[in-house]
Amino acid sequence: MKKIFFLAATVAITSAACKSSKEVSKTETPVVKSTVDCSVSGLTYAAIKPILEKHCNNCHSDGGAGGLDFTVFADVKKAAQKGELLGTIKHERGFPRMPANELQLEQASIDKIECWIKNGMKE
Ligand code: HEC
Repeated sequence: MKKIFFLAATVAITSAACKSSKEVSKTETPVVKSTVDCSVSGLTYAAIKPILEKHCNNCHSDGGAGGLDFTVFADVKKAAQKGELLGTIKHERGFPRMPANELQLEQASIDKIECWIKNGMKE
Protein backbone atom coordinates (compact mmCIF):
# COMPACT_ATOMS: atom_id res chain seq x y z
CA MET A 1 0.00 0.00 0.00
CA LYS A 2 2.76 2.38 0.98
CA LYS A 3 4.59 1.55 -2.22
CA ILE A 4 1.57 2.33 -4.37
CA PHE A 5 1.11 5.65 -2.63
CA PHE A 6 4.75 6.48 -3.23
CA LEU A 7 4.38 5.64 -6.92
CA ALA A 8 1.29 7.77 -7.27
CA ALA A 9 3.00 10.65 -5.53
CA THR A 10 6.01 10.36 -7.85
CA VAL A 11 3.78 10.44 -10.92
CA ALA A 12 1.92 13.44 -9.57
CA ILE A 13 5.13 15.33 -8.86
CA THR A 14 6.63 14.51 -12.25
CA SER A 15 3.57 15.61 -14.19
CA ALA A 16 3.34 18.78 -12.12
CA ALA A 17 6.95 19.53 -12.97
CA CYS A 18 6.30 19.02 -16.65
CA LYS A 19 3.31 21.28 -16.55
CA SER A 20 5.12 24.10 -14.81
CA SER A 21 8.12 23.96 -17.14
CA LYS A 22 5.74 24.29 -20.07
CA GLU A 23 4.17 27.32 -18.50
CA VAL A 24 7.56 28.90 -17.95
CA SER A 25 8.63 28.45 -21.55
CA LYS A 26 5.34 29.98 -22.65
CA THR A 27 6.04 33.18 -20.76
CA GLU A 28 9.65 33.29 -21.91
CA THR A 29 8.74 33.36 -25.58
CA PRO A 30 5.66 35.54 -25.84
CA VAL A 31 3.91 35.51 -29.14
CA VAL A 32 4.13 39.04 -30.42
CA LYS A 33 0.73 39.75 -31.83
CA SER A 34 0.60 42.05 -34.74
CA THR A 35 -2.36 43.43 -36.56
CA VAL A 36 -0.39 45.07 -39.32
CA ASP A 37 -1.48 44.26 -42.83
CA CYS A 38 1.73 43.72 -44.76
CA SER A 39 0.17 42.63 -48.02
CA VAL A 40 1.55 45.74 -49.71
CA SER A 41 4.31 44.53 -51.94
CA GLY A 42 7.43 46.28 -53.10
CA LEU A 43 8.56 47.63 -49.76
CA THR A 44 12.29 48.10 -50.06
CA TYR A 45 14.96 49.70 -47.94
CA ALA A 46 14.28 52.95 -49.77
CA ALA A 47 10.87 53.08 -48.12
CA ILE A 48 12.19 53.01 -44.57
CA LYS A 49 15.46 54.87 -45.10
CA PRO A 50 13.90 58.33 -44.66
CA ILE A 51 12.51 57.28 -41.26
CA LEU A 52 15.93 56.13 -40.11
CA GLU A 53 17.58 59.26 -41.49
CA LYS A 54 15.20 61.50 -39.64
CA HIS A 55 15.02 59.70 -36.31
CA CYS A 56 17.99 57.38 -35.94
CA ASN A 57 21.04 58.33 -37.93
CA ASN A 58 21.69 61.22 -35.63
CA CYS A 59 23.12 58.68 -33.19
CA HIS A 60 23.43 55.59 -35.37
CA SER A 61 25.86 56.64 -38.06
CA ASP A 62 29.57 56.00 -38.46
CA GLY A 63 30.87 54.56 -35.18
CA GLY A 64 27.29 54.77 -34.05
CA ALA A 65 25.55 54.15 -30.76
CA GLY A 66 25.46 50.49 -29.79
CA GLY A 67 27.89 49.79 -32.65
CA LEU A 68 25.08 50.26 -35.17
CA ASP A 69 25.45 52.41 -38.25
CA PHE A 70 22.03 52.72 -39.82
CA THR A 71 23.37 54.54 -42.85
CA VAL A 72 24.64 51.08 -43.81
CA PHE A 73 22.05 48.62 -45.11
CA ALA A 74 23.86 45.63 -43.59
CA ASP A 75 23.59 47.09 -40.09
CA VAL A 76 19.88 47.78 -40.46
CA LYS A 77 19.32 44.25 -41.69
CA LYS A 78 21.42 42.79 -38.88
CA ALA A 79 19.42 44.67 -36.24
CA ALA A 80 16.20 43.59 -37.94
CA GLN A 81 17.22 39.94 -37.97
CA LYS A 82 18.09 40.02 -34.29
CA GLY A 83 14.66 41.42 -33.52
CA GLU A 84 16.22 44.55 -32.07
CA LEU A 85 15.03 46.96 -34.70
CA LEU A 86 11.37 46.21 -34.09
CA GLY A 87 11.77 45.61 -30.35
CA THR A 88 13.36 49.01 -29.77
CA ILE A 89 10.90 51.05 -31.83
CA LYS A 90 7.86 49.20 -30.48
CA HIS A 91 9.14 49.75 -26.96
CA GLU A 92 8.98 46.07 -26.17
CA ARG A 93 10.23 44.77 -22.89
CA GLY A 94 13.93 43.91 -22.84
CA PHE A 95 14.96 46.51 -25.40
CA PRO A 96 16.16 50.08 -24.93
CA ARG A 97 13.47 52.43 -26.18
CA MET A 98 14.30 54.04 -29.50
CA PRO A 99 14.66 56.69 -30.70
CA ALA A 100 16.41 57.50 -27.42
CA ASN A 101 15.31 60.76 -25.81
CA GLU A 102 12.57 61.24 -28.37
CA LEU A 103 8.90 60.39 -28.70
CA GLN A 104 8.06 56.98 -30.07
CA LEU A 105 7.81 56.86 -33.86
CA GLU A 106 4.41 57.33 -35.44
CA GLN A 107 2.45 54.11 -35.79
CA ALA A 108 2.57 54.38 -39.58
CA SER A 109 6.37 54.44 -39.49
CA ILE A 110 6.54 51.48 -37.11
CA ASP A 111 4.14 49.56 -39.38
CA LYS A 112 6.24 50.35 -42.41
CA ILE A 113 9.40 49.04 -40.77
CA GLU A 114 7.57 45.96 -39.50
CA CYS A 115 6.28 45.20 -43.00
CA TRP A 116 9.69 45.76 -44.53
CA ILE A 117 11.04 43.11 -42.16
CA LYS A 118 8.14 40.71 -42.72
CA ASN A 119 8.45 41.08 -46.48
CA GLY A 120 12.03 39.88 -46.40
CA MET A 121 14.15 42.99 -45.77
CA LYS A 122 14.67 43.84 -49.42
CA GLU A 123 17.46 46.22 -50.27
C1 HEC B 1 19.82 60.12 -29.11
C2 HEC B 1 20.55 59.02 -29.67
C3 HEC B 1 19.82 57.86 -30.28
C4 HEC B 1 18.82 57.90 -31.23
C5 HEC B 1 18.18 59.13 -31.87
C6 HEC B 1 18.52 56.53 -31.55
N1 HEC B 1 19.30 55.69 -30.81
FE1 HEC B 1 19.28 53.65 -30.88
N2 HEC B 1 20.73 53.58 -29.46
C7 HEC B 1 21.30 54.68 -28.84
C8 HEC B 1 22.25 54.22 -27.84
C9 HEC B 1 23.09 55.10 -26.96
C10 HEC B 1 22.23 52.79 -27.91
C11 HEC B 1 23.04 51.77 -27.15
C12 HEC B 1 22.90 51.77 -25.72
C13 HEC B 1 21.57 51.44 -25.15
O1 HEC B 1 20.73 52.35 -24.94
O2 HEC B 1 21.34 50.28 -24.85
C14 HEC B 1 21.26 52.44 -28.92
C15 HEC B 1 20.98 51.14 -29.26
C16 HEC B 1 20.11 50.77 -30.27
C17 HEC B 1 19.87 49.41 -30.69
C18 HEC B 1 20.50 48.17 -30.10
C19 HEC B 1 19.60 47.69 -29.02
C20 HEC B 1 20.11 46.55 -28.22
O3 HEC B 1 19.28 45.72 -27.83
O4 HEC B 1 21.32 46.49 -27.99
C21 HEC B 1 18.96 49.47 -31.70
C22 HEC B 1 18.40 48.31 -32.49
C23 HEC B 1 18.63 50.86 -31.91
N3 HEC B 1 19.34 51.63 -31.02
C24 HEC B 1 17.74 51.31 -32.83
C25 HEC B 1 17.41 52.64 -33.02
C26 HEC B 1 16.44 53.08 -33.99
C27 HEC B 1 15.67 52.18 -34.93
C28 HEC B 1 16.39 54.44 -33.89
C29 HEC B 1 15.49 55.37 -34.67
C30 HEC B 1 14.09 55.08 -34.68
C31 HEC B 1 17.32 54.85 -32.85
N4 HEC B 1 17.92 53.72 -32.35
C32 HEC B 1 17.57 56.15 -32.48
C33 HEC B 1 21.04 56.00 -29.11
C34 HEC B 1 20.10 56.46 -30.01
